[in-house]
Amino acid sequence: MLLSGAIVGFVASIAGFASAAPHPAIKRQVTQLRPQYDFIVAGGGTSGLTVANRLSEAFPQKTVLVVEYGDVEYAPGIFDPPLATWGGVGASASYFVVQSLPVPDAKNASAFVLAGKVVGGSSAINGMFFDRPSQYDMDAWSTVASSGLGSIHHRWDWNSMFPFFKKSVTFTAPPPAVAAQRGYTWDASVYGGSTPIYSSFPPFLWGDHNVVRNTWTDLGIPTLQECAGGKKDGKCWIPLSQHPVTARRSHAGLGHYLNATRPNYDLIVKHQVIRVVYPSGIESRPPLVEVRSLVDNTVFNITATAEVIVSAGVFHTPAILQRSGIGKASVLGAAGIPVVLDLPGVGSNFQDHSGSGISWNYSAPGNFTPLPSSMSNPAFLADATAGFDEIPARGPYTLAGSNSAIFVPLANITADYQTIVSRIKSIIDDGSAASYLPADYRSDSTMIAGYMQQLATIAKLLNDSRVPSLESTFATGTSVRAVNLHPMSRGTVRLNLADPLGVPTVSYGTGSNPIDFDVYLAHSRYLRRMLNTTTLQSFGAVEVNPGASVQTDAALIDYIQRTMTLSFMHPCCTAAMMPKNKGGVIGPNLKVHGAAGLRVVDMSILPFLPSSHLSALAYAVGEKAADIIIRDW
Ligand SMILES: Cc1cc2nc3c(=O)[nH]c(=O)nc-3n(C[C@H](O)[C@H](O)[C@H](O)COP(=O)(O)OP(=O)(O)OC[C@H]3O[C@@H](n4cnc5c(N)ncnc54)[C@H](O)[C@@H]3O)c2cc1C
Ligand SMILES: *[C@@H]1O[C@H](CO)[C@@H](O)[C@H](O)[C@H]1NC(C)=O
Ligand SMILES: *[C@@H]1O[C@H](CO)[C@@H](O)[C@H](O)[C@H]1NC(C)=O
Ligand SMILES: *[C@@H]1O[C@H](CO)[C@@H](O)[C@H](O)[C@H]1NC(C)=O
Ligand SMILES: *[C@@H]1O[C@H](CO)[C@@H](O)[C@H](O)[C@H]1NC(C)=O
Ligand SMILES: *[C@@H]1O[C@H](CO)[C@@H](O)[C@H](O)[C@H]1NC(C)=O
Ligand SMILES: *[C@@H]1O[C@H](CO)[C@@H](O)[C@H](O)[C@H]1NC(C)=O
Ligand SMILES: *[C@@H]1O[C@H](CO)[C@@H](O)[C@H](O)[C@H]1NC(C)=O
Repeated sequence: MLLSGAIVGFVASIAGFASAAPHPAIKRQVTQLRPQYDFIVAGGGTSGLTVANRLSEAFPQKTVLVVEYGDVEYAPGIFDPPLATWGGVGASASYFVVQSLPVPDAKNASAFVLAGKVVGGSSAINGMFFDRPSQYDMDAWSTVASSGLGSIHHRWDWNSMFPFFKKSVTFTAPPPAVAAQRGYTWDASVYGGSTPIYSSFPPFLWGDHNVVRNTWTDLGIPTLQECAGGKKDGKCWIPLSQHPVTARRSHAGLGHYLNATRPNYDLIVKHQVIRVVYPSGIESRPPLVEVRSLVDNTVFNITATAEVIVSAGVFHTPAILQRSGIGKASVLGAAGIPVVLDLPGVGSNFQDHSGSGISWNYSAPGNFTPLPSSMSNPAFLADATAGFDEIPARGPYTLAGSNSAIFVPLANITADYQTIVSRIKSIIDDGSAASYLPADYRSDSTMIAGYMQQLATIAKLLNDSRVPSLESTFATGTSVRAVNLHPMSRGTVRLNLADPLGVPTVSYGTGSNPIDFDVYLAHSRYLRRMLNTTTLQSFGAVEVNPGASVQTDAALIDYIQRTMTLSFMHPCCTAAMMPKNKGGVIGPNLKVHGAAGLRVVDMSILPFLPSSHLSALAYAVGEKAADIIIRDW
């Protein structure tokens, strides 16, 4: 439900941004650039700007250029007021819209997913939910990332990453009165950084917030003081990536560029990196970056005397690599691109979080005020609007999406969890797992080897009673969804043959590995148990969806296929950090296998999804990457 007053205000604010004077720190045309740079970062997003900021800080004598597709004038993300949670999707200038090919195992529905197209990337448009992976996710990543012993600085396990999680963000505890009123808890010792990327708790919660939190407790889910310290099997409050006083979004564009301008740090907007070119062969530096102006369509090359760092996000990073002739030979052949480096993992191994939900109604609702419906009361709306501009900010607009969640291990969800784990092991043992991979790479032996290793790792995670399998968040309302945190199905990101410079063709393989449906089914049955709790029963809650008639496994699977959210906007893994003989694209030092002076630093590098949203990880990956690159130079 969009409010007409909100729309008017929104359009006015967009117009205001568009007419704002050009930002002095931003370059807009090639004439403002140096003839060459030491480091060129392709994509000014969450990880890319973190790296660019750190490199320019560490090396005052070296130059850094960020090439960004979008613009800088800050347009609201979909979760920014006045659109916020109850709004629709607006501000299309600041993101790419990706509509996937039909998903066969979801009744041919298309996944709808956005990706930031603005200085700051997806951190400038996301839901601001700022959680971290579990320590077990990071340790599992580290085991698949490298086959042998590497440098201690190239490890990606929890202990190696924790300092970078800490460094990447400035957490501010809520004022005591807010903490007491809301019951917020945290552990300050897992934070401690001073980087101007802020996280904090909003002063506002909706009136029905505790209904579902209490329901979770009724289910036996333990309350954790903090979920960002490595252990997150339970219920916790999650900070938001926003300023503690103004409650305004904190994002990479502000914290790692506009608030970090330096004479050796250039950023050009409205320019697209087409490809990376190696005039003397892929093993000889320096690479050139071929760039296209989105204003006048001119194309030019810039030399990266040290390195190119590709940070264009999960969809566009593999597109840049494929246009550069780096990818699976048959895919490049179809696009008419000569093969420079045959790396079948580029744009393969694609994953996202997905899942379906339940809803209910109340025959004896409590006095749940305020609710989002309160926003249709003009006085409430006026107060909300005024409160957001107060110092400190207050009211509904300080709460973007949700800030509490549960993370539940499979062992707590179903007594049959060992059966699910055994099924994974059996499709590894009999080799049938490969048949669930996307058709265009399911016969590639390196990709199969990598997938088998990922599945074995996921089997271990699902069999570990400390590792979450389900996430569910709540802020207000009468529905919740289950997020399948460790999906086993895989998809692809391939150049769009009709428009190789456009948004690539994305195939979501959601549900193609049938064991994911065992997990979806277990998750759905678990969520349905919420209806039987003392808390929901006390308000006369009745299940609306799936609904009383949906009871058999077959009926429930049909419901899941019809209703599932195919993307919780956590795409990943299209340039995975795994050995080359396991279908990997980069090594633990982030270098593309077989290419000189070329690294990938963004959410493409994950081998598989962790038990978390991705923005805090994207910042920490940027920090770790900068540490590695700085040591090398
Ligand atoms: C709508 C939405 C909601 C989300 N909600 C949450 C949330 O609540 N919590 C959370 O933790 N995570 C959330 N995420 C995920 C998280 O924000 C992203 O995973 C993370 O920010 C990705 O970082 P990145 O560095 O990989 O890429 P990005 O931050 O997306 O950066 C990529 C950048 O590259 C630029 N680019 C692309 N192609 C080119 C090219 N050819 N040349 C030059 N530049 C290019 C893009 O414009 C963009 O600026 C959400 C994501 C979305 C889209
Ligand atoms: C999905 O599309 C395929 C190919 O067009 C078709 O064969 C199949 O029947 C469709 N499935 C559903 C559930 O509509
Ligand atoms: C899972 O179950 C164990 C054993 O009953 C319990 O100790 C733990 O708190 C539960 N965790 C969650 C997240 O439900
Ligand atoms: C950070 O950047 C924003 C946007 O340009 C600006 O409004 C703000 O004052 C800056 N803050 C600091 C500390 O530089
Ligand atoms: C960039 O350099 C490559 C290799 O030298 C060349 O083939 C290409 O045409 C150049 N592009 C432009 C726009 O000059
Ligand atoms: C709640 O939903 C159930 C099932 O759809 C329906 O039968 C019932 O009338 C609804 N009750 C209320 C109070 O809306
Ligand atoms: C799950 O882990 C336990 C040890 O915690 C082990 O005994 C069991 O064999 C494992 N189950 C499967 C199916 O691998
Ligand atoms: C809820 O409780 C009823 C009565 O005890 C039981 O029949 C039903 O199976 C329970 N439902 C769920 C989803 O646990």
